[in-house]
Amino acid sequence: MSTPTKVAVVYYSSTGTIAEIGKQIALHAEKAGAEVRLLKAAELAPQAAIDSNPAWAANAAATADIPVATPEDIEWADAVVFGSPTRFGNVTSQLKQFIDTLGGLWAQGKLVDKVYSGFTSSATAHGGQESTLLALYNSFHHFGGIVVAPGYTDPAKFADGNPYGTSHVDAQGNNPVDDTTREAARIQAERVVKIASALKAGLAAG
Ligand SMILES: Cc1cc2nc3c(=O)[nH]c(=O)nc-3n(C[C@H](O)[C@H](O)[C@H](O)COP(=O)(O)O)c2cc1C
Repeated sequence: MSTPTKVAVVYYSSTGTIAEIGKQIALHAEKAGAEVRLLKAAELAPQAAIDSNPAWAANAAATADIPVATPEDIEWADAVVFGSPTRFGNVTSQLKQFIDTLGGLWAQGKLVDKVYSGFTSSATAHGGQESTLLALYNSFHHFGGIVVAPGYTDPAKFADGNPYGTSHVDAQGNNPVDDTTREAARIQAERVVKIASALKAGLAAG
């Protein structure tokens, strides 16, 4: 009997938008039959910065129980879905720092032949969602990974409109994650599980 496809959802979130999308991706990956680990990248910001922003402090408290990702989680996974808010059109330093700890696995060839995908959020509609996802996807090519983007593989993708990955405009905390973004997360999670399962079965069959 085949083992379930293993999915790691690894995110960084300051004020909770990405944490919420990460939860949705994990939920729908699980519903699609995967074994899922929902994990966060370690915080690098000073406590004083977190305490100065009520939304940041609230998210830190709300997600205190989410385990911090380790390279072992990536080795374990058949598919990894990374999430990061936009930072000046780029990936957060916190998530990037975690990715930089994967050098040992990379050197041993242990990042290859896995499925990778990503999600993001920004304050504004043209604030860098695509550039953030594409920056994230640069690393997946170096891993020897299989990039699985949602594309427009479902009619609902024309509502959220981002073929690169689930994304949300949070209007600086004034626009919480909504049904359109939750639907995009579902489509992406299901597609990741489907392709990762097919890849795993194909690789096992030689
Ligand atoms: C240092 C910094 C840089 C940011 N850069 C951008 C940006 O380039 N474009 C944008 O639309 N939002 C930008 N934002 C806003 C966040 O990306 C956005 O609010 C995001 O949805 C927050 O996600 P979170 O709630 O998971 O932390 C920036 C925020 C910070 C703190």
